[in-house]
Amino acid sequence: MFFDRPDAGRQALILQVNFRQHSGTQTSGGLDVAAECAELARTADVVVTEIVTAVRDQPHPRWFVGQGKVDEIRDLLHANDADLLIVNHDLSAGQQRNLEESLDCRVMSRTELILHIFADRARTYEGQLQVELAQLKHAQTRLVRGWTHLDRQKGGIGLRGAGETQLELDQRMLGERIKTTERRLQDVSRRRQLGRRRRQRSHTRTVSLVGYTNAGKSTLFNRLTAADVLSEDKLFATLDPTMRRLPIAGIGEVVLADTVGFISQLPHSLIEAFKATLEEVANADLLLHVVDASAPDREQYVAEVNSVLREIGAQELPIIMVWNKSDLVASDTTSAAEIAPFPGVAVSAVTGEGLDALRVRIADILGVTSPTEVTLPPEDGKTRAWLYQQGAVIEERVADDGRVAMTLRADDELLRRLRSLPSVLVVPDLLQVDEGIPKISSLPN
Ligand code: GTP
Repeated sequence: MFFDRPDAGRQALILQVNFRQHSGTQTSGGLDVAAECAELARTADVVVTEIVTAVRDQPHPRWFVGQGKVDEIRDLLHANDADLLIVNHDLSAGQQRNLEESLDCRVMSRTELILHIFADRARTYEGQLQVELAQLKHAQTRLVRGWTHLDRQKGGIGLRGAGETQLELDQRMLGERIKTTERRLQDVSRRRQLGRRRRQRSHTRTVSLVGYTNAGKSTLFNRLTAADVLSEDKLFATLDPTMRRLPIAGIGEVVLADTVGFISQLPHSLIEAFKATLEEVANADLLLHVVDASAPDREQYVAEVNSVLREIGAQELPIIMVWNKSDLVASDTTSAAEIAPFPGVAVSAVTGEGLDALRVRIADILGVTSPTEVTLPPEDGKTRAWLYQQGAVIEERVADDGRVAMTLRADDELLRRLRSLPSVLVVPDLLQVDEGIPKISSLPN
């Protein structure tokens, strides 16, 4: 593994700085970011003993916070018997090194904490490569800013060019590793695209689970598909989209994809690294947005997830809000609106309650594009061949007058193309796919 890891059970302080120009709050879209950081730390098996806050106009160039705050943190580290400071922000390499020197303890930024958790959770080859790439790129920024103080090294014969600095050497080595990792990722990504194309050709629909980390996606995935995917009461139990077949009555088999848990302020390098995974989400036919209905901050989590979905261009996809963990909120006195503030299906992935209703809702939405009848004139062998090539034909009957009646597995795109062909005799009215199906764009921000 690329980074030093904090030891399990290690005691840490969290530093949260409020910047006045950001309206003096400690929140991101309403989320208590310091509490969320403590939850992240818990996921990394670190024990948070105290959250230290500071208010500033802007980061101090040397230590991120002022000298007085540094002294206060040193005392608190001592009093709490802690030897790790997690700064819930991004630090320059210089600030990080200065803080480490002044405090005589390990300092970790928010990005490093998230990278560390992702590295721990990556289970497939692709996930591991994605995390490695993000780590290497992070390390590269540390080198550029952090090691410039090094003296120029003497050139050693056969080792490096005359006068090449240690910094240049390390950068070159990192650059090479980044290239190799990117090449490997491209190979995996190509294979993934092939799989996607195959599914598209056979008109197999993909349903993707999305949701804030810890919402219960993996548990729901397991429950719906009876598969064994790691699920833990910690953030980020899932890093790689895992795909399984899911039979849906009246529709046939669809592919259900479990995806990486979303999080607020995901470092940009990580969004980049997980692009392929997120692309998979953007290409789904239907999204199940899983929300922990028992979480006090659930509406903010929904907003965070929707903002990532918009960022990856998935805002026009049909979506079902799945209010999970209903077993934790439902009682005789809870109203449906309390469980589900926006329309959706209330379920419990643990007790199985509501899952039948969820399957029906999936069938309702996917069913809009379910078997369609078209009729071709006798001479239109070309369209007929094309439909077979698309894998869209479920069955065909040739009438006495030579017309070919076909039952198709057609989505709206295929129907649209069919309608543009003058020779096709009968295509039912374009389906009202846009009406009545909730999309992110129709949900609250
Ligand atoms: P990430 O992989 O981090 O994105 O998490 P996830 O969304 O896949 O969550 P996961 O399925 O790992 O579940 C998180 C925790 O919530 C686990 O402890 C589950 O047992 C618990 N959980 C999931 N669904 C339910 C539910 O319906 N009821 C209750 N009581 N607990 C649930």
